[in-house]
Amino acid sequence: MKKQSWQEKWNATYGLNKDPNRELLLFPLLLNISKPIKGKLIADLGCGNGSLVVKLLRYAPKKIYGIDFSSNFLKFATDNIRDKRVTFIKSDIRRRLPLKSNSVDIVYCTFVFNETKNINLILKEVSRILKKRGRFYLMTTHPFFPMKYYLYEKYTGKKNDKILNVKGYFENFEGKFNLTMAKQTPPFYHHRVEDLINSIINNNLSIRRVNELSTNKKMINADPRYKEQSDMPKVILISAEK
Ligand SMILES: C[S@@+](CC[C@H](N)C(=O)[O-])C[C@H]1O[C@@H](n2cnc3c(N)ncnc32)[C@H](O)[C@@H]1O
Repeated sequence: MKKQSWQEKWNATYGLNKDPNRELLLFPLLLNISKPIKGKLIADLGCGNGSLVVKLLRYAPKKIYGIDFSSNFLKFATDNIRDKRVTFIKSDIRRRLPLKSNSVDIVYCTFVFNETKNINLILKEVSRILKKRGRFYLMTTHPFFPMKYYLYEKYTGKKNDKILNVKGYFENFEGKFNLTMAKQTPPFYHHRVEDLINSIINNNLSIRRVNELSTNKKMINADPRYKEQSDMPKVILISAEK
């Protein structure tokens, strides 16, 4: 039998709408904060299997470009979503994107920065393609979420009692992501709060709002294991404008 790629495992586990984090907390908040969406030209950078694109469609956008460099993920996206308002493009978002300068109303980038070493390359393109007053929504793992220890536990199966502190926060480290899914994994890059904020500002975008997110009651009802993470910041959402 052909070995499943990690993208196939991820898609099989989370599909388009099976991740409680995205379904019950993150995407509802993101969609609410980023209204109005109606009639807008949108780019979703690192769109994966299209889990955000499918939800954006409910808000009547004019056009959505879903961009990703993974053929595997784009195949799920194109199989999952057939809508003439959506175009999926295979492209590396660290390089010049096939979108005109000053043409996009809203750019989303969710859970891609931790797979990217040089986030400035992405932000340079975000700034170029956005219209004046166009909006940018960045969602990524909160730098205080003790990913390093979390990864340690996943790697070794041993409890790490350092999990509740942020020791090692200033260290640049690279781990392996999606460890439970498969042996083949993309790297995980840690970015500090100042890295996220300064790189947005340095690319001529103005920060409008920051949300630090953990878990909510709906998630805990869906899976009681989320309770132990409810006092940890898990995700940061930064809303910015050109
Ligand atoms: C963790 S997934 C998140 C997918 C989606 N945004 C979501 O939140 O469900 C990260 C995605 O970013 C894509 N990605 C990572 N680096 C990229 C790059 N340099 N260019 C294009 N896509 C990239 C990966 O292929 C993957 O689909």
